[in-house]
Amino acid sequence: MSRSLKVSSKHLETVKLALFRNSFPSQRALALDLGLALSTVSRFCTGKSVDYGTFVDICDKLTLEWKDIADSSNSIALSQQSKPKKTSNKPEKSSAVITTSTELASENLPFPEGVVPPNSPLYQTRNDIESICNNTIVKPASLIRIKAPTLMGKSSLMIKVLAYAQAQNYQTVYLDLNNVDRAIVTDLDKFLRWLCVMVGKQLGLENQLNDYWDLEILGSNGNCTAYFEEYLLPTINCPVVLGLDEVDRLFPYESIIEDFFGMLRSWHEKGKISTIWQNLRLILAHSTEVYISLDLNQSPFNAGVPIELLEFNINEIENLANLHQLDWKANEIEKLIEILEGHPYLIRLAIYYLKQGKVSLNSLLENAAKETSIYSNHLRRNLDIILQKPTLAKSFKQVVTSNQPIELNPIETYQLYSMGLVELQDNRVIPRCNLYRDYFSRVL
Ligand SMILES: Nc1ncnc2c1ncn2[C@@H]1O[C@H](COP(=O)(O)OP(=O)(O)O)[C@@H](O)[C@H]1O
Ligand SMILES: [Mg+2]
Repeated sequence: MSRSLKVSSKHLETVKLALFRNSFPSQRALALDLGLALSTVSRFCTGKSVDYGTFVDICDKLTLEWKDIADSSNSIALSQQSKPKKTSNKPEKSSAVITTSTELASENLPFPEGVVPPNSPLYQTRNDIESICNNTIVKPASLIRIKAPTLMGKSSLMIKVLAYAQAQNYQTVYLDLNNVDRAIVTDLDKFLRWLCVMVGKQLGLENQLNDYWDLEILGSNGNCTAYFEEYLLPTINCPVVLGLDEVDRLFPYESIIEDFFGMLRSWHEKGKISTIWQNLRLILAHSTEVYISLDLNQSPFNAGVPIELLEFNINEIENLANLHQLDWKANEIEKLIEILEGHPYLIRLAIYYLKQGKVSLNSLLENAAKETSIYSNHLRRNLDIILQKPTLAKSFKQVVTSNQPIELNPIETYQLYSMGLVELQDNRVIPRCNLYRDYFSRVL
């Protein structure tokens, strides 16, 4: 009986994606985490045989069901080794990974939440945005800033660009700043140490902070810069793309923003003269306008390539409908846009429920703003946030009950914009879509 298993060729993409989903930017990072040789992980990821126990361990780590991805031609091993060495207590594998449109039957459709996997056929590209990002990221010391309200696809785009970078054999790091503890983001030194450790970890490098961190000689920024310049970047010695998602999480913390964002800008500038720094490519994503005041020359928000994610246009919605084998006529798409505009998440959710076949487009749209609607969780989540701020609630009520754009104070404008509830028209705002107008004018 064979004691080894390999990933079937049709699941190699699934494995690649699972690395990302589980925050392993490279095979090296996974090997380090599991205490395995890089060559073993590399064999696994490229569909070569590895020991059965190791196969199960790697699958566990990647939250993959080992039997689903093992090469079934190795059927003796599969049938006889029905009892995995370890049972995973991780949640069920998400159904997010689908690879061909024939698999888009309603029972296989992933629920449209969270990051869209970069190789998913349901990833909808927008105008030239993906190609602009891909063309930028291959340039030395590039900097991409993705700005859009929540649920517009920032994280999905960032992961897509990181996947492209990986395909160029670059190393990639993805950090979601929303997940950083408050105790860390309030202290510059702790925050920069955290950054160094997390980047090093994702690059599969040993933590050598103790050898580089010397506050008596350099300040925190200097130490962090030296760690990248003298250790991380030269050791990796190929382009490294650092994706920082939700950077607006830092905006309220005045004690760190000036130094931190100033440092990112200086790294970007160093790339103009230093080959080491040319290997660092940055992607920043944020949903709030950059309301913090930073010196123009020391802010990364005044440099690099800005990308503003807009709503899906008619062609993009039509394409998504076709992908889902929904035979929509132009007037059906118009009806959808009338209520939801081209909001990526709202559109995807509508399509998801329509594909289940339990509701018609007309009834879905007529009931969209009611408590029983498919959007009720999403709407209530936003309502809860707004109700915690009575003055914001009052202002938003004004916005949804007026037929004219309303001018609010800048902070309220940013808050509502970053939640995706309003659209900006110069300094004034209007509801982002009629769904929000209908619902919030009723409940506020
Ligand atoms: N490019 C895209 N193609 C298809 N669906 C998308 C795309 N971008 C976003 N979506 C939809 O919007 C949801 C939120 O995307 P996400 O990337 O998490 O947004 P953000 O990071 O801006 O909050 C996804 O779960 C998906 O339903
Ligand atoms: Mg996001």
